[in-house]
Amino acid sequence: MSFETLNLHPLIIKATLEAGYTIPTPIQQQAIPELIAGHDVMASAQTGTGKTAAFMLPALHRLATPSKVRSRGPRVLVLTPTRELALQVSEAASKYGRRLSRIKVISILGGMPYPVQNKLLSQPIDILVATPGRLLDHIQRGRIDFSRLEMLVLDEADRMLDMGFIDDVEKIASATPATRQTLLFSATFDNGIEKIAARLLKTPKRIQIATQQARLDNIEQRLHYVDNLSHKNRLLGHVLRDETLKQAIVFTATKRDADTLADNLSTQGYDAAALHGDMNQRERTRTLTKLRRGGLQILVATDVAARGIDVADITHVINFDLPKFAEDYVHRIGRTGRAGASGIAVSFASGNDKIHLKRIERFTGQCITSHIVPGLEPRFKPRPANDERSRRTPGVAQKRSRSWSKAYGNKQNFNSINGNRPNSPGRSYGDENNSNRPFDNAHNRGNSRRKDQWQKF
Ligand SMILES: Nc1ncnc2c1ncn2[C@@H]1O[C@H](COP(=O)(O)OP(=O)(O)OP(=O)(O)O)[C@@H](O)[C@H]1O
Ligand SMILES: [Mg+2]
Repeated sequence: MSFETLNLHPLIIKATLEAGYTIPTPIQQQAIPELIAGHDVMASAQTGTGKTAAFMLPALHRLATPSKVRSRGPRVLVLTPTRELALQVSEAASKYGRRLSRIKVISILGGMPYPVQNKLLSQPIDILVATPGRLLDHIQRGRIDFSRLEMLVLDEADRMLDMGFIDDVEKIASATPATRQTLLFSATFDNGIEKIAARLLKTPKRIQIATQQARLDNIEQRLHYVDNLSHKNRLLGHVLRDETLKQAIVFTATKRDADTLADNLSTQGYDAAALHGDMNQRERTRTLTKLRRGGLQILVATDVAARGIDVADITHVINFDLPKFAEDYVHRIGRTGRAGASGIAVSFASGNDKIHLKRIERFTGQCITSHIVPGLEPRFKPRPANDERSRRTPGVAQKRSRSWSKAYGNKQNFNSINGNRPNSPGRSYGDENNSNRPFDNAHNRGNSRRKDQWQKF
């Protein structure tokens, strides 16, 4: 199948070809016709398989026809959980829409000055990409006219509909016309989402590319058991010496650990920097830009970098600390192995991580092979020594490659996913706000100065 057969506007096809895309990915092949037909859609496909273009190309296709409503407000609204992802999605929109005349794309994020955003919002807009908290502030101040809004997209939809965001997302959705087309996209969905989705979508089409278990086959997953922090640091050193490593993201559990580890690595001579929610937005953007341009070898990040971020040269993802929630593991390791490439995901687990590890393995349906590095053997051995899943790490990583077409199937129903607690309290979710936070109550809502220091990441 080619992009030409998808009935997209010729100038959109031209831009995708210029972006280097020749064949639509499976999610693009299946979602684009449903979206052009005007259906609401819930779509799931593995990380790094082109979901952004799957919703953005049909959105642009709509914009090729002028609106019948006289207004300057946005015609397409995309919500994302983090600021970095919002910026990346708006860049993708500009790239795919560059051949259409005068498509105006803007992003509205927390951590950016209000006057600049007020000015942007006072001009005609086609596509608005936003994080929910700041957008809601502008809506409540009457600065956005949604009268001609045609399409609402929730990227990373399972996160956007969990407790951290759902209130704001529902408020935003209720400010838009009921006639809108609504799209949910993510690599991970669970059954619980159906009920919430029913409040936002009208008889949605469900698209699922491959089962949870059939995915991730382009990412080699390894596990190292660790005894303590010093053992972990020595193992990290070993992984970072892998000569196939181009760029890596190391995930830590806390912002402070991200800073400490980035400092340690810099002291050891690595080009390393931290990324987390306590940094100001200029620093965050500067760090990610440096990573994208290859000026940074190792990004040490909290889960703020777990979802959606697309950097082609990330060959390794290292879970210095395991994520608390199984679906976060899938998103974290999905920062490597993108657009048909292969990648390596290394996770460190201690005796306290047994439950997390089990949940992750149940969620992915895959057992993570444990590896032992000669000279760095753990004293702690949760699985028997003759366990066939234990392997000696090869000196140089074995690289594999794959093509888009391999291993994709199609199923209409989402699988039951264990170990996933998307609506559980006690976690924080992104950049903007979190209704689980003790102070994030009615009093705080609508306050433009949301308390960033309470964010977990
Ligand atoms: N048809 C295509 N042919 C080649 N490359 C593509 C195609 N579509 C998208 N890509 C590239 O694939 C990469 C991953 O795309 P994208 O970020 O949209 O993935 P995703 O499915 O949204 O992943 P995630 O779940 O992590 O958000 C990007 O670099 C994008 O440019
Ligand atoms: Mg994405």
